[in-house]
Amino acid sequence: MTHDTAPEPAAGPGVERRHVSDAESALASRRWWDADADAYQAEHGEFLGDCDFVWCPEGLREATAGLLGPVAGRDVLELGCGAASAGRWLVAQGARTVAVDLSDGMLRHAVAAGRRCGVRVPLAQADALALPFRDGVFDIVCTAFGAVPFVADSQAVMREAHRVLRPGGKWVFSVTHPMRWIFLDDPSENGLLAVHSYFDRRPYVEHDAAGKPTYVEQHRTLGDRIRELVAAGFALTDLIEPEWPEGHDGIWGQWSPLRGRLFPGTAIFCSVKPEQPTPDRAQPA
Ligand SMILES: C[S@@+](CC[C@H](N)C(=O)[O-])C[C@H]1O[C@@H](n2cnc3c(N)ncnc32)[C@H](O)[C@@H]1O
Repeated sequence: MTHDTAPEPAAGPGVERRHVSDAESALASRRWWDADADAYQAEHGEFLGDCDFVWCPEGLREATAGLLGPVAGRDVLELGCGAASAGRWLVAQGARTVAVDLSDGMLRHAVAAGRRCGVRVPLAQADALALPFRDGVFDIVCTAFGAVPFVADSQAVMREAHRVLRPGGKWVFSVTHPMRWIFLDDPSENGLLAVHSYFDRRPYVEHDAAGKPTYVEQHRTLGDRIRELVAAGFALTDLIEPEWPEGHDGIWGQWSPLRGRLFPGTAIFCSVKPEQPTPDRAQPA
């Protein structure tokens, strides 16, 4: 959600599109989100609220969208929770919620916000690629821009979400809309010019002077995401592309009213773990 500008040469700190290993991606993510936690919350904390579930910079809220269905009395897991404002909103609606994040820095903000607003959500430091929960213990797994865009093996996140869900459970996540990757991360008119191939799956990488990745964000096409979900055993039930609302003049990185009026900035994938395994995944008797 923070990448910007055109590629620069690899000498010195800079940005580029190139392959990175799972390990490089994980290390960069952990360090980035720890170091960036204060700045992220200072910039976006007010918009996100202390106890509110905001799906995206367009400002779509779970309270109005209802993408998770009824949550009261349900077991809910929030992945990549950041300061966990969504997790606290879920608790306030009566859900039994656990919120996890890879970053210690982000979780410190989650603890502070819980004290501030008096709504506590159980927190755990965990990687979405290896969730510390038994199989089939949640009714809903969700995240707003957490984890999925930052792991090289996003297919593995889908498998983990599937594993910890009960049959019939929902997996709903928002990410940057894949078509945004065609453009520079620029909220102004400069961001209206198509400069990258939609089909270039190499991640966006910021690196230090030694060429070591410091921030990595992964791109998948819409079709890639759907195939990841289906391969993990989910059925896609909806794909939400929130429209920019009238009167919303906030800018979040590359999200702006100018661009929002023209093309989508966020994609929210809504899926369900079928009650019965789908036929091609069923094991022979
Ligand atoms: C863009 S922030 C979104 C935070 C929050 N959901 C929100 O709406 O503000 C991305 C979050 O994903 C977390 N994250 C990145 N990779 C992760 C991983 N592999 N497992 C769990 N969390 C991860 C980061 O630490 C960060 O808190």
